[in-house]
Amino acid sequence: MAEHAKFRYRSLDEVKEDISKLGVIIPISQDLEILKKTISMGDKIIPNSLGIHPMEGCDGTVEGKPDELTYRRYERFARGGAGLLWFEATAVVEEGRANPRQIYICPENKEDFKKLLDQALAAAREDFGHDYRPYTVVQLTHSGRYSRPTGKPAPIIATRNPYLGRDIPEDYPLITDQELERLEDKFVEAAVLAKEVGFDAVDIKACHGYLNSELLSAFTREGKYGGSFENRTRFLLNIVDKIKDGIGEGLDIAVRMNAYDAVPYPYGWGVDKDDFLKPDLTEPIKLVNILYDKGVRLVNISTGNPYYNPHVGRPYDLGYYIPPEHPLEGTARMLDIIRQIQQSCPDMVIMATGFSWLREFAPFIAAGGIQEGWFTIAGFGRQAFAYPDFAKDIITKGAMDSRKSCIACSKCSEIMRDRGKAGCVIKDAKIYAPIYIEGRKGKPEINRNRVAYHV
Ligand SMILES: Cc1cc2nc3c(=O)[nH]c(=O)nc-3n(C[C@H](O)[C@H](O)[C@H](O)COP(=O)(O)O)c2cc1C
Repeated sequence: MAEHAKFRYRSLDEVKEDISKLGVIIPISQDLEILKKTISMGDKIIPNSLGIHPMEGCDGTVEGKPDELTYRRYERFARGGAGLLWFEATAVVEEGRANPRQIYICPENKEDFKKLLDQALAAAREDFGHDYRPYTVVQLTHSGRYSRPTGKPAPIIATRNPYLGRDIPEDYPLITDQELERLEDKFVEAAVLAKEVGFDAVDIKACHGYLNSELLSAFTREGKYGGSFENRTRFLLNIVDKIKDGIGEGLDIAVRMNAYDAVPYPYGWGVDKDDFLKPDLTEPIKLVNILYDKGVRLVNISTGNPYYNPHVGRPYDLGYYIPPEHPLEGTARMLDIIRQIQQSCPDMVIMATGFSWLREFAPFIAAGGIQEGWFTIAGFGRQAFAYPDFAKDIITKGAMDSRKSCIACSKCSEIMRDRGKAGCVIKDAKIYAPIYIEGRKGKPEINRNRVAYHV
């Protein structure tokens, strides 16, 4: 049976030892004060430099309203003390929902979204004081080739992609330019609602292979949304322009963007044309700078595709295959990509991804990265499911509790694949262990020993 490196560190020195053995560069600082730093976003303040990534629970109602577990999740996140709460993937049209329980922002659901946000903000005030307000972003999405609004796959594709489209027939129709134009307006309508709900910002999601992310890599598409850089970024930039024109002040625009798909060219974005295992950040850097010129001030960088190469975007100990690299190498690659983007656009607030696998040592890497100008905010995903109070503990106790930490076991993702409601099976077991067990029933056992991901 093949073995792979897993987290086995008892001290920061042991982490440093492996970093040096592997010959990778990861910034580290033991002075965590910098994580308390507030960040100005126009006339708003992010109260510290720790954030929670968008983390979908797949637990809304069939109409796309938040449900019991959605409310619970955001209340826990809000009480956890992270200065930035990035609300999960939220569909802008019914047909673009990734699952029948994905939340969906539309006029009928507006009041429910308001209740979700208001309850979270009230919980934060209750714990941190009258004037405390985390900065809130809602992630607007169309799931593209991963759309499954009624539970059955109903892909909406912008390009043919032999790596990602194995089950999609070769003559499957592409979304037309007219439909894309119409969809741009749907994002604007969703942004208007998000502003009325009271979110500080909307994220025009462009990561992980969903529609907008796929368009960035639509090298082979014909027409005005494919081919050249200008065409492939048109959808995203049109939405930004239309929101700016249509809404004006009072709502910030953010983008969660893949900077490196790790899918071969001409089907992946941010990849070296001859070797997709190497990032080529020329285009992502160009795009981030255009976004800055258009007034976008917050970008969350991610990498990889959760359906194709999950180890790239979320290093793990246990997953669907044995990753072809040490998780520290994956973390180092992701952080280096983020560093290059931050340094190319120093005034952009860049939120970094890649901390959950590092467990209780993440704060030192977060502090090191901010100290050395690699990024501005450290974002946590799976860790927030496992240990929503991580930020409060870092800020008030100067440490995370290793016993409460995410163990990077991928069970939260497995629940999603099994069509359940996602959360931490290990540290929030009372709720999520039964859901996990139920979802696994009748499914083939996961072969965790496949050696590499499909290339
Ligand atoms: C269960 C689950 C749900 C997720 N939901 C979203 C989402 O709604 N939007 C998004 O951009 N990324 C989503 N992600 C990706 C995470 O935000 C994050 O990028 C990833 O887990 C890596 O960060 P981490 O190492 O801190 O976990 C999700 C990941 C998991 C495991």
